[in-house]
Amino acid sequence: MKIITKVEEMQKISEMHRQNGEKIVCVPTMGYFHEGHLNLMRIAKGYGDIVVVTLFVNPTQFGPNEDFERYPRNFQRDMELASSVGVDYLFAPTVEEMYPDGYATKVVVTKYTDKFEGVKRPGHFDGVATVVTKLFNATKPNVAIFGQKDYQQTLVVKQLVKDLLFDIDIIVAPIVREPDGLAMSSRNVYLSPEERTVANEIYNALNKGVEAIRNGEKRRKHINSIVIEHLRKFNQFYIDYVSAVNAENFEEPEVFRSGEKVVILVAVYLGKTRLIDNMLATVP
Ligand code: PAF
Repeated sequence: MKIITKVEEMQKISEMHRQNGEKIVCVPTMGYFHEGHLNLMRIAKGYGDIVVVTLFVNPTQFGPNEDFERYPRNFQRDMELASSVGVDYLFAPTVEEMYPDGYATKVVVTKYTDKFEGVKRPGHFDGVATVVTKLFNATKPNVAIFGQKDYQQTLVVKQLVKDLLFDIDIIVAPIVREPDGLAMSSRNVYLSPEERTVANEIYNALNKGVEAIRNGEKRRKHINSIVIEHLRKFNQFYIDYVSAVNAENFEEPEVFRSGEKVVILVAVYLGKTRLIDNMLATVP
């Protein structure tokens, strides 16, 4: 596995592979790899010839009071893990390389960004859309893989790709969970042992919502209440939002239709740690 830190070098390498007729698959990440990331990398191998993982903790998608500085980082370990699953290139630029002096452009996606993460984390999706655009231009992929855990992000990225005519297929890979159901996240390391023991209740709450849908509950507010009620039992969650929405257009109807694909989105604070998760269900 080769480590690349310069945009120009990455572009030359990608161009060379494209000229050779090889298909490039990009896995954008912020590092501190866990099984969820490794799963994306393994999936990537099935979609092309060359796997490029990007590792960049992107400052522009963090708010001023968020965890950019303390976001977990361990480059040595990340290098070893990526290499162990057969990644070809690890593109790990510095902040100065990605945002040099005089940098003055921002990519703004206006669909799907006016709710949930877009409201709770103002500017977050501008940062994501901007860096994803730059990472795509640096790595020139044919395919890019994103995790379902950041569900809203996957919709924003698909919209970006469509609107800006990127010739890139976006693949969304399922959430990888700990044995007790907690969605894997680099931020799980922030949890205290006590917080960790209840963190899987997010998963249990989502399951209850999905179960209700499968049992015929179509009223959005009722589905939300079932999830909220479960979380409230534990007295430890501060609920940022819980919402069942149409998984394709993000609309929030009073009552879902039969056959409608729904995603239940959850964002909670457990102590100081903000966790997000989601689960899909089709209305019978
Ligand atoms: O999902 C992430 O890790 C980040 O938002 C991404 C897509 C790598 C952009 O920084």
